[in-house]
Formats: sequence, structure tokens, C-alpha cells
Amino acid sequence: MGVYAVTGSASGMGKASAERLLAAGHTVIGVDIRDADVVADLSTPQGRSDAIRETLALAGGALDGAVLAAGLGPTPGKEALIAQVNVRGVIDLLVGWRPALAASGNSKVVVFGSNSTTTTPGVPNSAVKAFLAGDMDKGVARATRIAKSGPPFTYAASKIAVTRWVRRTAVAPEWAGSGIRLNVLAPGAISTPLLDAQLDSPLKRAVESFPVPLGGFGDAAQIGQWVEFMLSPAADFMAGSVVVVDGGTEAYFRPDDW
Ligand code: NAI
Repeated sequence: MGVYAVTGSASGMGKASAERLLAAGHTVIGVDIRDADVVADLSTPQGRSDAIRETLALAGGALDGAVLAAGLGPTPGKEALIAQVNVRGVIDLLVGWRPALAASGNSKVVVFGSNSTTTTPGVPNSAVKAFLAGDMDKGVARATRIAKSGPPFTYAASKIAVTRWVRRTAVAPEWAGSGIRLNVLAPGAISTPLLDAQLDSPLKRAVESFPVPLGGFGDAAQIGQWVEFMLSPAADFMAGSVVVVDGGTEAYFRPDDW
């Protein structure tokens, strides 16, 4: 049985992933801003370094894997938080946990991306580049230059940035060469408190009119099953992959983009 760190463990898909791992007999170290083994605010450098340190202490220095699910949706006015939590809350934690992930010899990491990365037209690449360079203010400024598209662009840019970071990093000697498998799970619209909040906001029409060929919204418990699978031996030969689970939306928009 393994030891897994799960961020965003208090709600939605992070919670569903943690429940699935616990039910299988694994040890889970939940990290969240509330109701978690490690309570930390991943939007601040102090919160992130506390999360890294306290998780490593609870894990005893070795992790069999991690799930990075803490994140915000495209809420207007929350652009700075989106950048901090969705990008730095993933990259900083994984860099801090890298030695513990390497210590286990065969570890697996699932980072939550989003199908918005490939279905949001016009996301400025300069915002993604700024996020990857660690200049979060500049990234937000670039993403919000066209004011009306601010929140969706910031959100999509944050998820493109972490996806790009995973794909670049997954193949680096310090990661793949240390037996760490980094992959991305990119959900579409999944029924969670995050989606409920969007359905209760001015984004409601946009969310409901987004095409989902299979219909409806996805189920968080099913995403938990995907996470468990991507942490299992079935993923031994998998690195830098992006697994899309979105009811067909992504294929609907770009069937020939392969
Ligand atoms: P959720 O809102 O149910 O759960 C997110 C968790 O992140 C919460 O427990 C929350 O407390 C935690 N969190 C937020 N800010 C934090 C902070 N500053 N410090 C520590 N923890 C913090 O969301 P959901 O839907 O389960 O989302 C999980 C991931 O999947 C997120 O990264 C989200 O962006 C992504 N996603 C969600 C989709 C959806 O339709 N629900 C679609 C595509 C991606």
C-alpha cells in the first residue's frame, strides 16, 4: 500500500480521489485550505512552503505519489488567486516534494489540467509564458488585456501552463530518470462545488451551452477512479500524457487536430 499526497482533498474531485485511495487501503495526506491533514493556503508562498514541509513530515520523507487537484474555476475577480493556486500551487509543491517522490523509486503524479486548455480560443500565449516564468502579475495582466475574456483566459492560461510544465518536466532526467511519472488528467465539466458555483453565476449560460456530445456533466467519483488508475502499476509506462475525460467536448471542437 502506498502513501499519497492529495491537494484539494476537502472537496470535489480531490476529495473523490482521496476517498478512492483510502478505500483501496492506501495512506492519504490531504492538503487543503480547510478540513485536511495539512491545512495550508496554497495561494501564498508561506502556505505552499508549510504544505511542502508538513506533508513531508507526515509522509516520513517518501511519497508513492501525489494528486494536485486544488484549484479555482474561472471566477471573475479571482484572477490573481487562480494564477497562484492553479499554477504555483502545483509547480512549487511538486518541486518541493520531488526528493520524496524520487525516494520511493516508482512514483506517480496526477496533475489536474482542464479541457479548457484546448477548447478556449484566443488564450494569449504571452500569459502562459509569464506564468511559466513565475511572473504571475504579468501573466494575469496579459490574460485580462481583453477585459471581457479575463476570467476564462486566466483560467485556461493557468491550466495550459501547468500542462506544459508537466510535459516538459516529465521527461527530464531528475523526474523520469528518478522513476517519477508525471501525467495530467484534463476533465471537462464535472459536477462539483466548483461547477455548481459557476452555474450560480453569470457564467451559467456559457457553461450550459458548451457542447457535451455524451450529454450532462461528469461524475466526480468516476474521476476518482481515473486518478486511482493513473497512480496504479497500469501507469508504469506513462509520462507526460494528458488524459481527457470530458464527454467528448474536446473531440467535438477539434476532431482532426491530431
Ligand atoms: P472544488 O472547488 O470542488 O475543489 C477544489 C478544492 O481546492 C477545494 O477543496 C478548495 O478548498 C481547494 N482550494 C482552493 N483554493 C485553495 C487554496 N488557496 N489553498 C488550498 N486549497 C485550496 O473543485 P473541483 O471541481 O473538484 O476541481 C478540482 C480541480 O479540477 C481544480 O484544479 C479545477 O480547476 C479542475 N477542473 C474542474 C472542472 C470541473 O468542471 N469541476 C473542470 C476542469 C478542471
